[in-house]
Amino acid sequence: MRVFDLRSDTITKPTKGMREAMAGAEVGDDVYREDPTMTALENRAAALTGKERALFVSSGCMGNLIALFVQAGRGKEVLTASSSHIIGHEIGSMAAIAGTLPITIDVPRGILSAHDLEGRVKGGAYDAATTAVIAVENTIGGVCYPIENLKGIRSFADAHHLNVHMDGARIFNAQVATGIPVKEWASWADTITFCLSKGLGAPIGSLLCGSEVFIREALTVRKMLGGGMRQTGILAAAGLYALDHHIERLADDHRHARMIAESLERSGWAQVDMEGVETNIIFFTVPTMETQEVLDRLKAVGILANTEGSVVRLVTNLDISLDDTLAICALIEGMEMTR
Ligand SMILES: Cc1ncc(COP(=O)(O)O)c(C=O)c1O
Repeated sequence: MRVFDLRSDTITKPTKGMREAMAGAEVGDDVYREDPTMTALENRAAALTGKERALFVSSGCMGNLIALFVQAGRGKEVLTASSSHIIGHEIGSMAAIAGTLPITIDVPRGILSAHDLEGRVKGGAYDAATTAVIAVENTIGGVCYPIENLKGIRSFADAHHLNVHMDGARIFNAQVATGIPVKEWASWADTITFCLSKGLGAPIGSLLCGSEVFIREALTVRKMLGGGMRQTGILAAAGLYALDHHIERLADDHRHARMIAESLERSGWAQVDMEGVETNIIFFTVPTMETQEVLDRLKAVGILANTEGSVVRLVTNLDISLDDTLAICALIEGMEMTR
């Protein structure tokens, strides 16, 4: 039985072209900052995000942690949506390692506005943590941040002398879905991370981008965390290949996600968040069934899914072709979801 893995866009394997680029990469010791391929990737990332400099980190989690470590740190606060990845899936690293207090805000779809931040900024009292950073995630749950919200958050941050960090793990999905370039998305934040290892299909790595001064500090924190790596050009080559070949094709993932969402809706047994299907992520529930049972039933026909709280999540990715999508849709529409 063919198995279609829709658990995440992180499950993709490097393509032949990507592996060839990795095998042929010129390398050097990146702790000495002597890896030419890594330098090229970091320069490309800085140019794409419109920031002065960029730094390769092993993961999105490490990028977010370093961003908050440097811009907030011990005894400072970060304002963020309660459903953001830094709250739900990073094991409290900002608190455990950076000494930073996360202040969570419940907002629909995890999308903040300046209004949600009003009255939450602290500073000046000797017995209270000082607010330092607003952290936003774009895309969040596959949904692109409304640009008006980001503009409002930027003005709010400036008025209160706060920094804005954008977890842009899937920022290229936002670019492809909206036509708004990554550089413009990034312009509303002081720092941004993006992941090579999600929709872009590289095996490892994220880029943390920001000012020259910020990246100098970030480099030190990366080393402190054990994230200084040596002949990283092999990984950078995969990243450069992904940026050259895998950005525009994200539109295919988005099309496939919509096709699958429409099939789920046609099936009659799923309640789909159609409005939320802006990029490559689909959320749905089966009102008559526990989430685990839905996962088991899907697995039995060859569809691997994931859960996010009490909903089922499917993520289209580089390893799912149009033919695969048609096959997945047929499987979904053929399923009997009664007990
Ligand atoms: C929005 C978001 N941010 C950050 C991360 C962390 O990335 P990594 O798994 O590379 O640490 C993820 C991973 O899925 C994510 O979805």
